Amino acid sequence: MKTDELREKYLEFFRTKDHTVCASDVLVPKWDASVLFTPAGMNPFKDHFLGKVELKFTRATSSQKCLRTGDIENVGRTAYHHTFFEMLGNFSFGDYFKRDSIHWAWEFLTGSQWLGLDPGRLTVSVYKGHWGFDEEAFKIWNEEIGLAENRIACLEEDENYWPASAPSEGPDGVCGPCSEIFFHPDNGPECEIWNLVFTQFNREGDPPDNLTPLPAKNIDTGMGLERAASMLQGVSTNFHIDTLLPIVEAAAVICGRKYEAETEDGRRFRRITDHVRACTMAIHENVYPGSQKEESVIRRLLRRAVFQGHEMGMREPFLYQLVPSVVEQLKRPYPELTETAERVTDAIRDEEDGFYQLLEDGIPRVERVFEETRANGSNVVDGDAIARIYQTYGVPPEIADSMADAQGFEFDWDAFKQSMDDHGKQSGVIADTVMGDAGPIDDIKREVKATQFVGYEKSEETANVRGLVSESGGEQSRLDSLEVDAGDSQMVITGRTPFYAESGGQVGDTGTISGPEGEFSVEDTQKNGEVFVHFGRMTSGKISSGDEVTMRVDTQRRDAIRRAHSATHILHYALQQTLGTHAQQRGSKVTDDWLRFDFTNKTGVAAGELRQIESLTNEKVGAGGAVTAEIIPLEQAREAGAMMLFGEKYPDPVRMVSIGDFSKELCGGIHLANAGDVGAFEIISEEGVSKGTRRIVALTGDKARENQQQIQNAATGIAETLNVSVGSIPDAVGRLSRQVKDLKKQLSSGKAATSEQSNDGAASETEAAGYFAVRDAMRTAAAGLNIPVADLAGRVNTMLGEVDSLKKQIQQMADAPTVDADTLISQGEKIGDVLVIAQELRGSNSNVMRGLIDSVRKKTGPVALMLITAVSEDKVALVAGISKQLVENGVSAGDWVKQVAPVVGGGGGGKPDLAQAGGKQPEKISQAIAAAVEYMKSTVAV
Ligand code: SER
Repeated sequence: MKTDELREKYLEFFRTKDHTVCASDVLVPKWDASVLFTPAGMNPFKDHFLGKVELKFTRATSSQKCLRTGDIENVGRTAYHHTFFEMLGNFSFGDYFKRDSIHWAWEFLTGSQWLGLDPGRLTVSVYKGHWGFDEEAFKIWNEEIGLAENRIACLEEDENYWPASAPSEGPDGVCGPCSEIFFHPDNGPECEIWNLVFTQFNREGDPPDNLTPLPAKNIDTGMGLERAASMLQGVSTNFHIDTLLPIVEAAAVICGRKYEAETEDGRRFRRITDHVRACTMAIHENVYPGSQKEESVIRRLLRRAVFQGHEMGMREPFLYQLVPSVVEQLKRPYPELTETAERVTDAIRDEEDGFYQLLEDGIPRVERVFEETRANGSNVVDGDAIARIYQTYGVPPEIADSMADAQGFEFDWDAFKQSMDDHGKQSGVIADTVMGDAGPIDDIKREVKATQFVGYEKSEETANVRGLVSESGGEQSRLDSLEVDAGDSQMVITGRTPFYAESGGQVGDTGTISGPEGEFSVEDTQKNGEVFVHFGRMTSGKISSGDEVTMRVDTQRRDAIRRAHSATHILHYALQQTLGTHAQQRGSKVTDDWLRFDFTNKTGVAAGELRQIESLTNEKVGAGGAVTAEIIPLEQAREAGAMMLFGEKYPDPVRMVSIGDFSKELCGGIHLANAGDVGAFEIISEEGVSKGTRRIVALTGDKARENQQQIQNAATGIAETLNVSVGSIPDAVGRLSRQVKDLKKQLSSGKAATSEQSNDGAASETEAAGYFAVRDAMRTAAAGLNIPVADLAGRVNTMLGEVDSLKKQIQQMADAPTVDADTLISQGEKIGDVLVIAQELRGSNSNVMRGLIDSVRKKTGPVALMLITAVSEDKVALVAGISKQLVENGVSAGDWVKQVAPVVGGGGGGKPDLAQAGGKQPEKISQAIAAAVEYMKSTVAV
């Protein structure tokens, strides 16, 4: 039986038993902070099991995409281990229990129209251990199914409990005994194919007496799809089933080798196959290789796969070539993979490229650790050192392990793991899913189950208070009444609410909740499962459980959020129109008149394109268009062409928001009635956030208008100041900046030529230019100076000031009596046979003074000169020169300025023949000159 057929039959079988067939949840469940990846089929139903949501059905079945990395070392080595796999499951939420679960499992496995397995090949196990015996399950298997006692193994809690060993070791929460079903093939060992979990206890604390029966008992079963397929197809490893072998073989072809199952290469191809499936699915869901959390796991898997190729001599990216094969094998259950194959391929290729570079840098570092090991006379490679290389350079430990092996070293995995643990970096390990209560909110959830949201229609509503929680020092407690000073933070839960809870990028609403005895200010609203939690503070009096309260959303803020949210959809449309359909949303944040939108695009968006995206968005805003929302079946939305984001889990039916006839998105957010109400839209920035992801920040409504007003005012101001038209601002600012540079050059060269700034003589006339043209002129001008637009007006003024002061200095220089070398020589003082010249040169500068020093030295015998000038009101420049002969006698210009500069409040130094210094006190120049002469007198005299 083909794998696809097995999956379909399983779901069909349980459909005939009145189960609701649920689509797979995403691989990375963002709603569940307790796991990085979905580890089992039951994960999406955690709140269902605990009665924390309204149950729309009590029986469910699914084929769930899962990812586990706990046993990563075994992948490729054993017949059954995977990181990515699918799990078939059937679930009961307080509905049927052991009897039906066991009977149906048996019927599905052995029934002739289902799997039709020979019952003689099946055995089972039940729990019998330290904390009890599941006699109920034993009897059903033995008496009702008719399995002989010797085909029912009784196993301890480490084998037959979920979570494993839960009674003794925890975690606290829901748990229960398992019953496993094993298949016995002709050749090869028995294989566990199905795990039936009877979740019937709540664990609290250590044994004994720590298991309390649950009021509603549940069923959670899991059958690994690939494992069951290998049993049905009679192959010796999961990797040889119909959907995996083609990938294994494609990998061999790409690496130019033959696939032989029993060889080391064979294991490598299986590892590559597993990891490339995991990476393809994750990247498809927009989880890219990266350095944090789940992204780091994907990066590690990808690098492990690439390294397998590296070990076989591959030195160029190859893994990406396997994506088509993965897509081909998984496209029947997941047709959407075909839509993203190209994006996934590109992302894998990019990451591979980077990794080869890293290997080049990283391998020598690992070699160095080996050298140290050798030098220490040891043959065990230090796992801590390798952990550091992994964390700093990303060289996976497997590489060090394999290199160690080849060179006759042992790798200390324990030390590696210890070191990673010490740094809290074991992000790759996923714990068993825990179902338990974390605090008072969970209690409230069990009572309220789902908050009724009325915020699409209303912004004010009355409701009853169902739960009050205060938090102090991280501890939450449930209270009957909430008063002003209760705890560090406070939460109110009601049965109904007009407050939108943060989701789909849109922030939570704020506002007030007023009761008969007091008022609560809502600072944020968040969802916990299907219950809305209002966070904030009591501002007066108290609110008590059961109070009827009036809930008022801050509508001014919410209207601003609506504008930003509808604009986000229009922007998404404009991006796709302009850049292509790959420019899909990767994440967004929508708050009052401000939005951030991340999307897929390899390179930065060119200014022209960005302008086009902005005008298209504005055009659509200007044209107006009704914004409507309807609840329709997911399939219908897909057919209508609604934009679907991969890696998002959509409910069915789903809410589709349409704008005019051009935008359809699945969205739970709050929107305008008409696109025209966005008012104003402006893109503020575009930048990269990570490889292949760009970010646009934009403003709408009031914030956009305020920003436009500011820019407009600044532009008018600059145009007036520079006496040019707004359109000429970039040129005029460019000229101004060049003028500043030229003047500085003149001043330092001492050539008193002057250049006049020219302008286009046009009167300032901003009215003629539309806002976006004005803004573009301002942006171009700011970009030319490499400053933000907001700083432009300030910078222009500064530059104008600089021009004035530079001109003044140049003028001073021109006015100053010209001093030449001969004059200086004639004014020097002879000390012994050394000519000492120490003088202030008004309106001079360092360049000029250095030039004079050179000329003097050429024209006369032993000479020591120090020239000083006031460069500005608080700046002094000193230059000293000593002639060659004196230098040979040990006189040093460097020492000289070191002594003299402090007199003018400065410091400096240099070589024995020429030295320079600065100071801050021009008023002390004459003292400095006296000090200079004094110094030379004592120096030369010696
Ligand atoms: N949760 C159990 C498992 O993962 C059964 O689905 O094995």
